[in-house]
Amino acid sequence: MHQPIHLAVIARVGAHRDFLERGLPRLDVLTPDTPFGLSNPIHIFEYQGLRFAVLSRHGEEGYQVSAPFVNDRANLYALKSLGIAKILAWCAPGAINPAMAPGHLVAPHDILDEGDRAPRTFFENRGPGFVRQNPVFCPELRGRLLMTLAEGPFPVHDRAVYVATTGPRLETVAEINKFRLLGGDLVGMTLVPEVFLARELEFCYTALCYVVNYAEGVLDRPYEPGVLFEGLATPAELAAVRRVEAAFAEVALALLPHLAATPRHCPCPRLMERYRLRGDLGKDWRTWFP
Ligand code: HPA
Repeated sequence: MHQPIHLAVIARVGAHRDFLERGLPRLDVLTPDTPFGLSNPIHIFEYQGLRFAVLSRHGEEGYQVSAPFVNDRANLYALKSLGIAKILAWCAPGAINPAMAPGHLVAPHDILDEGDRAPRTFFENRGPGFVRQNPVFCPELRGRLLMTLAEGPFPVHDRAVYVATTGPRLETVAEINKFRLLGGDLVGMTLVPEVFLARELEFCYTALCYVVNYAEGVLDRPYEPGVLFEGLATPAELAAVRRVEAAFAEVALALLPHLAATPRHCPCPRLMERYRLRGDLGKDWRTWFP
């Protein structure tokens, strides 16, 4: 495939089906093998002359891979090997900040890494990787994302600190209280190490979160065995969440031309420049992983 793929969307279970159901032509499905293992399937679609890729982190048919076991390195390497330079990471965290209600959209601006999920780098036992994380999300993609979302139907929060935990368990009340004291607004298990790894491969990467529950202890919620989040989210809140999920493809397609058009004058394409200049990394990224 020689035509450029303008954007990758990393999203929830079976995300590609939302585009198929809208009748979009699927050009290909690829599962590249990488030095870091097999990637998840990557579905290539075309919309208004733009190509985009869709990858479901947790599996295609159901929740097959829980958060700590997602092979981010293989997935990101595979997207890079398809010539992709920009990633929209769609994710579904809980809210520590009660102003961020289930069904709201949030574009986090920063990360608090409170997990211990390894590996967090492509360069284990090697020199490269001392990379600045301000801004941690691509400023161009994030700016365009917010401009475009302002025109949509969902409440949008334009700043949030995303606290990354390891999972798959949810947090204790004391942990959420600690994260609130540290300035956290959202808590989730997916953006780390994904965002840090994406930066090592010099992707432009930004995240669009939709809140799915209030985090533990934020509101008084009795325990209900056998249902999603065991009572942390009410049926009305889950209905608001389903409305956003149902709009996922529409939101992604509205964003696509805007995100595809960013000029990449941001720092992202040169995040590893010091290592190139030092001769630690070659000009062609494919030579980075022998
Ligand atoms: N905590 C951590 N991860 C999550 C949550 C949560 O409350 N909700 C969805 N992902």
